[in-house]
Amino acid sequence: MEILIERDYDAVCERASAVVREAVKKKPSLVLGLATGKTPVGLYERLRKSTTSFKAVRFFNLDELYGVGPEHEESFNHFLRVNLLDHLKVPEKNVKLLRGDVKDLDKAAEDYEKAIKKAGGIDLQILGVGNNGHIAFNEPGSSLGSRTRPKTLTDETLAQYRKPGKEPVSNFALTMGCGTIMDARRLLMIVSGEGKSAVVREFIEGPVTAEIPASVLQFHPSALVILDEAAASKLKRRDYYKWVASNKWRAGQK
Ligand code: PGA
Repeated sequence: MEILIERDYDAVCERASAVVREAVKKKPSLVLGLATGKTPVGLYERLRKSTTSFKAVRFFNLDELYGVGPEHEESFNHFLRVNLLDHLKVPEKNVKLLRGDVKDLDKAAEDYEKAIKKAGGIDLQILGVGNNGHIAFNEPGSSLGSRTRPKTLTDETLAQYRKPGKEPVSNFALTMGCGTIMDARRLLMIVSGEGKSAVVREFIEGPVTAEIPASVLQFHPSALVILDEAAASKLKRRDYYKWVASNKWRAGQK
């Protein structure tokens, strides 16, 4: 796992946007996995404003709330359209998002895995981490080898998404599994804020455990985690990660 520590949220988004743009430049037909949540908003803002062409990029997404159609304001499809896809002028055939308004969840999950395979696998998967260590909607206890499937959300996750004074739109989701995520050729996780510092410490420097699904990233051959100072504040080897990054830069690798 490569750890980059940036000054603040804006610098995290700037760096992550450079990683994505570089990947698209290298492979215009990149298969890009998108994430939903507060954290990627600044990254998507930068991608929408960039001059990079996303016309040939193929898009998948990590997860979607069950029972919620793509037009629903709280659906992850809606979030991704509004924050990114509507602005990139990508042909609709290149957008394959998990939908929540499906009748047969198991079939939808199976079809999704097949679609990823047909696209040649995900080249770059954007990720966030939940306060409880989830990646996508793989809640604590999820099998680290799991595939796309329906999942019941934890109270902590529901609290994270709950709008003040409103009931959550769904207690269930369809989500890529940990195994599906681990099959991506590269992972790009972005994390910001003091509130995430404890879980960051656990998944980067703690044991690999299904209790903290994000810890499975320790097994990935090409996972880049970009943190701001606040999110990195509890890391034991924080200075070392910075030292590694500055030495790479000196060696002309970055
Ligand atoms: P957040 O969500 O970006 O809104 O913090 C991340 C996640 O729960 O995976």
